[in-house]
This record gives sequence, C-alpha cells and structure tokens, in this order.
Amino acid sequence: MKKDTVYSQPITQVNRFRFDATVADVFENMINRSVPGYPLILDLIGVLTEKYAMADTNCYDLGCSLGAATLRIRQHLPQSCHLFGIDNSAAMVERCRANMARDHSQASVAIIEQSLQQTKIENASIVVINFTLQFIPDAERQAVLQRIATGINPGGILILAEKISFNNIEKQDLMTDLHHEFKKYQGYSDLEIAQKRAALENVLVPNSEQEHLQRLRQAGFAESQLISRCLNFAAFLAIK
Ligand SMILES: C[S@@+](CC[C@H](N)C(=O)[O-])C[C@H]1O[C@@H](n2cnc3c(N)ncnc32)[C@H](O)[C@@H]1O
Repeated sequence: MKKDTVYSQPITQVNRFRFDATVADVFENMINRSVPGYPLILDLIGVLTEKYAMADTNCYDLGCSLGAATLRIRQHLPQSCHLFGIDNSAAMVERCRANMARDHSQASVAIIEQSLQQTKIENASIVVINFTLQFIPDAERQAVLQRIATGINPGGILILAEKISFNNIEKQDLMTDLHHEFKKYQGYSDLEIAQKRAALENVLVPNSEQEHLQRLRQAGFAESQLISRCLNFAAFLAIK
C-alpha cells in the first residue's frame, strides 16, 4: 500500500480536492488513515450483504473508488447477482477494474465510469454509497436517495456512510478536534491536516445525523437507523 504524502510539502495555492491519479495511487492508505471506523464499515457491508442480498438481483457500489466496498459486496453475493461499481474518476475506475480482475468471486461485476446521478438503479437488493454522497451538491442529494430507494426491491437495503456534522457547536468542535488528533495519531503532520482541510473546504460538505435520517425517510425507506459512528463518521442502514 503506497503511503499518502499528497499534502506533506508546503503548497502555495491549495487547489480544490480532486480524485485524480495522484490521489488514486495512495487512496487506500489515505482513507484508512483519515476515516476512523472505516475497516468496521467494510466489515458491516460484508455482514449486511450476507443477510440482505437476494438471488437474481442487482447490487450497486456508488462512488466505488478502488473497490474496497465493491469487493466486500462481491465476496458475499449469491452467484446469480450482478454487481455494478460506479465512479466518475477515470483514475479510480482504471485501478478498480484491475483490483476486480484479481478477485475470483463468482458474482459478475462491471465497473462503470459514470456520474452516479446518471446511474439507473433497478431490481436492486443492495446499494452502498460509502463516503460519496458528501461530495454531491447538497441540493441533489435528496433526488439521489429517492432514485436509489425507487430502484431497491422490497426488503432490500441501502448502506450509507458519511462524514457527519453536529448542530451543537461544542460537539462539532470537539469531534473536529478529535478527528485531527486521530489523523496525527495516524502519522499525518499538522501541515498535511491543514492543507487537506483547505482542499476539502466546500468540496466535502457533511450533513447531520438528523438530516440523513429525515432524507432517508422522505426517500421512502420503511426503516432507517444509525449502525455505526466513530467520532464524526457514521454509517446508516436503510431498509425498503
Ligand atoms: C471517498 S471516495 C469513496 C470511497 C469508497 N466508497 C470506499 O469505500 O473505499 C469518493 C469517491 O466518489 C467518487 N465520486 C464523487 N462524486 C461522484 C459522482 N457524482 N458520481 C460518481 N462518483 C463520484 C470519487 O471519484 C471517489 O472515488
């Protein structure tokens, strides 16, 4: 796994964060050192796929990056399912396809370079959107959830994981501070943390737990709940 040093040197003008080849090359290391609880969420995706995947249905990993969640889904699917990994970054898609080619699970998989707002969701039993809705313009998020909910069969699920915000200012400050401490513990310098934060400003825009639950309800899920939270990173399970 190549170490993430993308923001290790001083940058005069920090550009908006992009999922380009430089990021894709180190992304596995970056996400594991930046998102507290990420390995647990991958395990939960495996557990929930085992429980909820239905034969002869489609499954989707929206914003699949290098395919970490895609692989977890695929390795727990009935053979008759078909899995789609969707990402709009060419650099991610290229590397994700190579990762899928090294996996020999029986369910078929296609990695598609596409904006997830264009993805047709149909006959679905499992949809995962892992730390990706936060990069979609806020005004488009409800419509994305709505289209996902419409495409999921009764009894199927959506697993949504996101960085979250807090309405209470003290809590927000504490969680931001603890997240930075987590990143320092993972070996990132203050400079790396500050420059990445500047790059993500207005690019990664989090919602609160309450906003997510309300949107999931409004999208038409019968039941939605928080299934994991580690500092300011949370995962939700929504059942159609
Ligand atoms: C934080 S990463 C997701 C991590 C990944 N789901 C995992 O579990 O390892 C966000 C990904 O979403 C992709 N992305 C962002 N906006 C997108 C969009 N509108 N449509 C499709 N993919 C998008 C990015 O290219 C990036 O690969």
